[in-house]
Amino acid sequence: MEREGRLTKRCCFGLLLHWSRAYAGFAIVVGAFLPEGTAHATSVLIPSNFAHDSASSSSTTAPAPAAAMDIARSFHMNDGENATSYAKNSALQKGIIGMTNHITMELLKDLYMKTESEKMVIADLGCSSGPNSLSVVRDMVKTVADTCRENKPMPEFLIFLNDLPSNDFNSLFKSLPDFYTQMMGTPLILSIAACPGSFYGRLFPTQFLNFVYSSNSLHWLSKARLNDEKGNSINKGNIHIAGNSPKQVAEAYTDQFREDFPKFLMLRAEEIVVGGRMVLIFNGRAGPDHFDRGFSLLWSLLSQSLIIMASQGDVDIEKLDSFDAHYYGPCKNEVEEEVKKQRSFELDRFEVIESNIGVNNCIAVSNGIRAIQENLIREHFGGNINIDKLFELFRNLLIEEAKKEAIKTVHFIVALRRKEM
Ligand SMILES: C[S@@+](CC[C@H](N)C(=O)[O-])C[C@H]1O[C@@H](n2cnc3c(N)ncnc32)[C@H](O)[C@@H]1O
Repeated sequence: MEREGRLTKRCCFGLLLHWSRAYAGFAIVVGAFLPEGTAHATSVLIPSNFAHDSASSSSTTAPAPAAAMDIARSFHMNDGENATSYAKNSALQKGIIGMTNHITMELLKDLYMKTESEKMVIADLGCSSGPNSLSVVRDMVKTVADTCRENKPMPEFLIFLNDLPSNDFNSLFKSLPDFYTQMMGTPLILSIAACPGSFYGRLFPTQFLNFVYSSNSLHWLSKARLNDEKGNSINKGNIHIAGNSPKQVAEAYTDQFREDFPKFLMLRAEEIVVGGRMVLIFNGRAGPDHFDRGFSLLWSLLSQSLIIMASQGDVDIEKLDSFDAHYYGPCKNEVEEEVKKQRSFELDRFEVIESNIGVNNCIAVSNGIRAIQENLIREHFGGNINIDKLFELFRNLLIEEAKKEAIKTVHFIVALRRKEM
């Protein structure tokens, strides 16, 4: 109860903006950022999903070590706009969005041509802060606007930007004036709202969304459960699946994916209208082998960096044993199998693209991983951990590896259509 109460307050900083010809420019119609604890709901649903996530973790997990983290509360990218922020270190994700954008826009255009609806309700799941989410929203709106010019009247847009509640929504919404400037000359009615909550819980009303988009987010699991029945780590010395991990480690990750991904599909199936589309872009593995260079190497290098820190007394080795990345890149078959089993969606398209980590982008990769992991690492190892040193070690190890051979990472673009059941 108390947990839900706190959550209700946290979720009240939703904001709804309207911009249209009728308002002669743009104007804030509802809301502004409300301080935590202000009881005022605007456009945002109060998700019950925190309770679900936490309940499932306590009922199905072996006793977790004291330091186990509540991902839904603690996981967030580095906020703000400074040198170590996600906003300034998400060029690689931007590159992946760029490589896949033509598919996203093609599917959105196709959906719009087929829909009777005068409204387009779109959600970006795992939007984070920084420029990437709004740049995709801008392309979506422009794509529909260009299609309308030739064919149909312009729909009204309702866009929901979703992420975990500790995401820096404030920075994201502060960049809206720039977004509106870029949209000048496109007459439209557009509302943008925050929807804080885990996408492994219910986020939206039934049959509400026309189009769901998610980039670079769905490889994050709801949790990593790598403890035996006594609560001890089964993956000592590693933070992910490594070459020397016992086979139970890969099995535990696979099981978590088999629990999370169908749940995600089932929840979205309730929220998306029949015929609605979903474009999911996330990291995968090249084949069935769980330890592959593109998928697991980065985590192994981060483990090694932490081990070096531990050997120099900078990190408590036991804390390293209980730190596990809640990250999983499935292989193509695993995704196809779960979509088939879940049955609510038709698989319209499945594309696989590769990107390369070479010596020239090791610094960007290292800074990018820092922007994603810093908060969790600080929370787990203590705020005093020397993060600059950790990522200097990591960067140097990464450069050594990239010198041997470029590291190929694999990305999936999965396009799904909600079936009529
Ligand atoms: C690497 S960022 C990607 C941001 C943006 N979509 C992009 O492509 O640049 C991944 C985002 O997914 C969010 N995320 C991870 N698990 C989530 C969950 N269960 N529910 C909602 N968001 C989640 C993280 O908080 C983070 O902001």
